[in-house]
Amino acid sequence: MITHKGTQAIHTERLTLRKFTVDDAQAMFENWANDERVTRYLTWCPHESPEATRQLLEIWCAAYENPNTYNWVMEYEGSIIGNISVVRLSEQSEWAELGYCMGYSYWNKGLMSEAAKAVIDYLFAEIGVNRIGISHAVKNPASGRVAQKCGLTLEGTKREYFKNSNGEFLDISDYGIIRSEWEKQNNLI
Ligand SMILES: CC(C)(COP(=O)(O)OP(=O)(O)OC[C@H]1O[C@@H](n2cnc3c(N)ncnc32)[C@H](O)[C@@H]1OP(=O)(O)O)[C@@H](O)C(=O)NCCC(=O)NCCS
Repeated sequence: MITHKGTQAIHTERLTLRKFTVDDAQAMFENWANDERVTRYLTWCPHESPEATRQLLEIWCAAYENPNTYNWVMEYEGSIIGNISVVRLSEQSEWAELGYCMGYSYWNKGLMSEAAKAVIDYLFAEIGVNRIGISHAVKNPASGRVAQKCGLTLEGTKREYFKNSNGEFLDISDYGIIRSEWEKQNNLI
């Protein structure tokens, strides 16, 4: 059963995951939200100004009022570098789907896998979900690799499922992990 606890701070070996504040706007804009390399396979386009980022953060921060909001900013070596969140959640079927993005200069250091593993542990252990999913564009294999490194299994690929901001139809692969697998991987059963 799901028990919502909201976006609690999480500490990993190299990262702190915490709630955003509106004051994160300038750094978020500069570190990832203004970069087309980051948004290429995402649902949104690069922000045009720090003010656009600030307006988004005002909405995101207001959403923390609701304890079913799971939206972390990632802090690394004193900077904010990216974002990981629950982008969809089913109360009825007790699943959550994750989305994430991070500044280009921080890619390929294992940082998103470290963050995602910690969030997966939090959602299974503290919130009580039964299943976690991650979907990614086949053309964006680094994201699929994050899912694999976090113990998720490839469940299928939907052809031309997502039309990106360039008007390109993209194949989307779905990964998932269910509670019994997570318990086994963590020697809990
Ligand atoms: C996807 C993203 C979050 C990955 O973050 P990251 O911190 O670089 O991920 P990690 O370092 O933990 O793991 C990346 C893995 O992908 C691999 N990888 C990178 N580019 C790759 C490519 N073109 N083909 C295959 N594997 C690739 C890396 O080698 C690494 O695997 P390894 O540890 O086995 O060597 C980051 O690239 C990003 O923010 N991209 C833009 C936003 C985005 O696409 N988000 C996901 C939307 S579904």
